[in-house]
Parts: sequence; C-alpha cells; structure tokens
Amino acid sequence: MIMIILAVCALALCLYYSIHDLYLIYICKFPPGPLSLPLIGGLHYLDPKRPHHSIRDLGAKYGGIFSLRMGPLGRVIFINDYKIIKQVCENKSSADRPHLPFIDIISSGASGIGSVEYGKKWKILTKCFHTALVKIASERGQNLVDKQLDFIMQRINAEGERPFDPREVISISVLNCISGVAYGEMYNSADDENLRKQYQNHWTIMRGLQSSNLINLFPFLWKLPTAFNTKVREVLQMRDSFMSEKYIEHKKKPFMDNTEDLMDVILEVESSKKIINSKITIPDLFNSLWCLFLAGTDTFTDAILWIFLYLMKNPKLQAEVQREVDEAIREGNTFYPPREKLPYTEAFVLEVLRIVTPVHMGIPHYTSEDIEVGPYKIPKETQFFPTLWTVHHSEKNWPCPERFDPTRFLNTDGELISKEKLSDMPFVPFGIGRRVCLGKTLVMELLVLIVSSFLKNYTIELPEGENPDMEGITTLGLKTCPYKMVSRRRHLLL
Ligand code: HEM
Repeated sequence: MIMIILAVCALALCLYYSIHDLYLIYICKFPPGPLSLPLIGGLHYLDPKRPHHSIRDLGAKYGGIFSLRMGPLGRVIFINDYKIIKQVCENKSSADRPHLPFIDIISSGASGIGSVEYGKKWKILTKCFHTALVKIASERGQNLVDKQLDFIMQRINAEGERPFDPREVISISVLNCISGVAYGEMYNSADDENLRKQYQNHWTIMRGLQSSNLINLFPFLWKLPTAFNTKVREVLQMRDSFMSEKYIEHKKKPFMDNTEDLMDVILEVESSKKIINSKITIPDLFNSLWCLFLAGTDTFTDAILWIFLYLMKNPKLQAEVQREVDEAIREGNTFYPPREKLPYTEAFVLEVLRIVTPVHMGIPHYTSEDIEVGPYKIPKETQFFPTLWTVHHSEKNWPCPERFDPTRFLNTDGELISKEKLSDMPFVPFGIGRRVCLGKTLVMELLVLIVSSFLKNYTIELPEGENPDMEGITTLGLKTCPYKMVSRRRHLLL
C-alpha cells in the first residue's frame, strides 16, 4: 500500500513539474529545454565532469538559447550562440549577478565589484579600479612578472632538471602578484610564512564558493559550529585586520598624487565626492579589492598552467615563440622586448584562452527586467549563463575549433590582428558586454610578458610517459589535470 501511495505521489510530482515547465515554455515564452524531474530538475542532463560538453549537446538539440531546471535554482537559461550572448550581455537589464549566500557571508554586508548590482555604485567602482589596473599593467607589468618568475625559478633551481608539478608555485606567485597590485607590496620567497598563510586562507574561501558548498543551498547551515564555518570566520577576521593595517600604512604615506596600487585608489575615492554621491562605503571599497583576489587568482593561475601545458604539448610552436623572443631581443638590444614585437607569442596566448576557455561556463548573470530574444523571453529575475566554451568550440564560429592553431590570430603578414578585428570575432574568454572581466587588460599584458620572459631562459618539456588529459578538470573554472614539467636552462647568444 505504501509503495502505491509513494508511486502516486511521485507521478503527481512529475506531472506537476512537467505542467509547470510547459507553462513556462509555452505561456511565459521561456526558451525551450528538457522537461524536469522532481527535486533535481534537469541536473541529470549535465555530466558533472564535463558540464560544458552537455551544455553544447543540449544546445544542438534545443537551439542557441535553452533552459534547464537546476534543482533549487529553478529554471536557468543557457546561451550558446555568440550573437545572442552579445545581444543579451550588452543589454543593461542583463547585468546583475545572482545572489549567492556564501558571497553575502564573506562580504559582511558590503557590496563588492563582482557582486554589486549594476548601477551607479558598480559604475564608479569599476571605473576607478579599471583605470588603476590598466595603469599598473603598463607601468609595473614587467616588475610584477619578474617577481613572479623569481618564485618559479627558485623552484626550478631547487629541482634542477627533475620533473615537478608547477601548480603550487605558480598559484602562490600569482597571489603574490595580485598582492603587489592591491597593496604595492610583494614577498621575496614562495616559502614566506605570511604569504603561505594568505594562500591557505584563499583556498578556504574558494572552497566555500564551490557549488558543492551546501551553505549556498541551505544558508541556515552557516549558523552551525562546523570546523569549516569556524575556519571561514577566522579567515574573515584575519582579512579585515590585514586590510585595515594596509589602509593605515597607506594613509601614513606622503601624498604623491600617483596611483601605485589599489589601496591608493581606495584612498582617492574616499577623499573625493564620489563616495558621498554614490553611497559607496569603505567596506564596499575593501570588498571590491578583495573581490579581485577571488576573481583573479585562480583564473590567472589556470591560464598560466594551460599555456605551459600547450607549450610542452607543441614543442615546435614553443620553439617558434622562442625564435620570435630571441629575435626581438637581438633586434631591440634589450632583454625586455615590447609586446608589439611579439605577435606570435601573443597569438599563442590568445589561442590557449580560446581553446581552453578557463572560465568555461561564464559567470552567471541575473536579469533586472524582461529581455526579448527572438520568439523567447528571459524574464525579469532569471539567472542565465553565457556559456563561453561553446562559443569557442562551434564550427559556426571557428573552422576546425578543436585544432590548436595560434595563426588564427595573425594576418597574412604574420602581424597580430587589430584590436577592432579581435573585438568583432567570437572570442570571449573574458566575457562580453557590460560585466566583462575587470582584469582583462592587466592579465593579457602579464601573460605575454610571462611567456616571453620565461621562454627566453627555459625550454619546458613533459617528462617521458606524462600524458595529461587535455580536457582538464571542472571546478569553478576549467583547471589542468595535474602534470609535471621539466625545465631546461637555455642561453641566448646575442
Ligand atoms: C586569464 C585570466 C582571467 C579570465 C579568463 C577571466 C575571465 C572572466 C570572466 C569570463 C568574467 C565574467 C564576465 C561576465 O560575466 O560577462 C570575469 C569577471 C571578472 N574578472 Fe576576470 N578573468 C581573468 C583574470 C582576472 C584577474 C587577474 C582579475 C583581477 C585582477 C579579474 C577580475 C574580474 C572581476 C572583478 C570580474 C567581475 C566583473 C563584474 O562583475 O563587473 N579577472 N573574468
């Protein structure tokens, strides 16, 4: 009898979900998509290891924009088609971010750049930080990269030509680099105790941002005295006192009228009228600065690790980059060839960002008003993903998209295609539209410098028998599978 009651309930629930889905699709004009099961919705359609492949396959069946119920998040929209992503992401009603309980917890009531709703506050915060990041990239880029490479070389010197896994040292060097951008201060050794502490703290918070963190589904769990919650509280306390310390140190510095780091930006905004007119608070500014660590550390680390992996997988192309770097050094009689002399190196970086797409699923957006897309509607207060990986892997956008070929970004004279042409191409590793990545200019500058500065001194190889899966591992972004590398010192003959 119990079994019959359970079966009837299950059937009733299935019917309820199906009718609701049909109502959303046919009456509310939601983009089409598979019907949902009770509780899990359409989660069973997504391969947890390769959700981006599932999204591409569902798109092939339902079209460039489709919807899928994502458990408790309700029906979420995925956009695979480049033109639709562009149209929607340029619309100001698409530029909010969905609410994530763990972000609220770590923001302690403040609004940071990455989560604040689209409006005056966001515009002022973005403008100030973006201007500073561009300036830092052009004035201090080489210095930041030299420090990063110091860490990597210290590790290489310790290992000699023994294979080692570069993830940890690259990750710490990136954290140190962002610390330099934020506070103007960098550590000299990857083993520095304070830097290691910051690294561990960063990982604690990143764990909380994962979709596997149940607090995001059941926020009351934050009230429980679990080991993880206690650790997060400790980390937040340390973060607040560290930032206050840096803030006080910067306040004591003599006034130079020159932005050297992002704490200087905070002091500038604080002393200007912007803060009064826009209701920006000091915690909002601190939170925005911290947001750059969260948004920038893993993405930047993954990008470097992927670039190294593609260099090792394609030794001939690595030799081509080295040839270009050596020639630029000889011609310019400088150890620091300018970026415009390195078109192939930059094309290599761009091609890795295309084929990998480190933020493969994009970062979710949230609509503040209804948005019409052809016959469909993305209703107000709906979450959508611009699925960037599918844009880079569509035959419609890129001939033979699975082939790794840096020359896609060069013209017939071997020059890098112009910025204008690049921005017209379906190339979106940093997103597109109003909430495009804030670190884009900085990170592109640094990646080209890292590759050129590193390859002038080293040739890297995969150890014999090492064959890492090039599909990578899905977490918040797309990471490389663990790999080891061997670095051989090279000496450039001038
Ligand atoms: C290769 C490295 C990186 C990649 C591939 C990347 C990619 C992205 C993507 C796809 C978005 C979402 C854009 C959208 O929603 O339309 C984003 C947002 C963002 N990124 Fe990056 N990013 C990288 C490095 C960085 C770095 C180094 C920083 C900081 C220094 C940074 C700061 C941000 C911020 C603050 C946002 C949120 C912008 C907003 O919501 O207004 N990113 N990034």
